[in-house]
Amino acid sequence: MLELKHLSYAVQEGDGQLGILNDISLSVADGSLVVFTGPNGGGKTTLAKSIMGLVQPTAGEIFWNGENITHLGITDRARLGISYGFQQPPRFKGLTVRKLLTLASGDERLSKDRCCQYLTRVGLCANDYLDREVDASLSGGEVKRIEIATILARQGKLMIFDEPEAGIDLWSFARLTETFEQLHAAGGATMIIISHQERIISLADEVIVVGEGRLRHRGAPAEILPQILSDTLGGCPVLTKEAKAL
Ligand SMILES: Nc1ncnc2c1ncn2[C@@H]1O[C@H](COP(=O)(O)OP(=O)(O)OP(=O)(O)O)[C@@H](O)[C@H]1O
Ligand SMILES: [Mg+2]
Repeated sequence: MLELKHLSYAVQEGDGQLGILNDISLSVADGSLVVFTGPNGGGKTTLAKSIMGLVQPTAGEIFWNGENITHLGITDRARLGISYGFQQPPRFKGLTVRKLLTLASGDERLSKDRCCQYLTRVGLCANDYLDREVDASLSGGEVKRIEIATILARQGKLMIFDEPEAGIDLWSFARLTETFEQLHAAGGATMIIISHQERIISLADEVIVVGEGRLRHRGAPAEILPQILSDTLGGCPVLTKEAKAL
């Protein structure tokens, strides 16, 4: 189980402090699929990076299976089975897709078949990609899908995907949602997916709305989706006025 206790992250702004995450407490049960959603700039990526150890919180604690991991680095957290797919994945010039999947799996002798399986699950044809370098020659959607495949290859216990849908075409998106559904049904891993997509939100056991660095709402998709819609309207004075005039 993942537990966040009074997690905060603040940065220096002028003479004062700007709170990016403000006193966030939540727990994510083993085997569950939780979606973080909410407005741009709300703090979702910062929250995910704090869990992975890419951002060091300024207050609060993080527990993973009862162990306090607040001060552990990324490598130690990866060893404990936590993985994170960047919103904007890095590229690795000189490294082929096959090598990247092999490194991620931790199995030097990862078979071509296994590599193919991981790539198929994100809608890529392995023959076209295995020997390609993960460099600037790959499109945004391709590099995003390859990164998701590396997270699958890592077979972690907690997988965090940051907007996996970003830049991905409709056909591959359908394949990807199927993959998330299958992973969830298999029950071996806990998944946190940051997403703005209704289709992904609807897969969740629980949806957590993060806004202004706080947990705004949490609940089942059927409960939260209407709230998101009314929030969207409520946040904009022009739209609210128009809605009242209707
Ligand atoms: N180091 C930093 N210094 C200043 N501001 C920061 C820093 N890191 C994050 N922020 C700000 O904190 C807010 C939250 O950023 P974050 O990337 O977590 O949002 P998000 O919810 O993932 O947004 P999006 O939906 O656009 O991906 C943003 O306004 C961002 O500009
Ligand atoms: Mg983000």
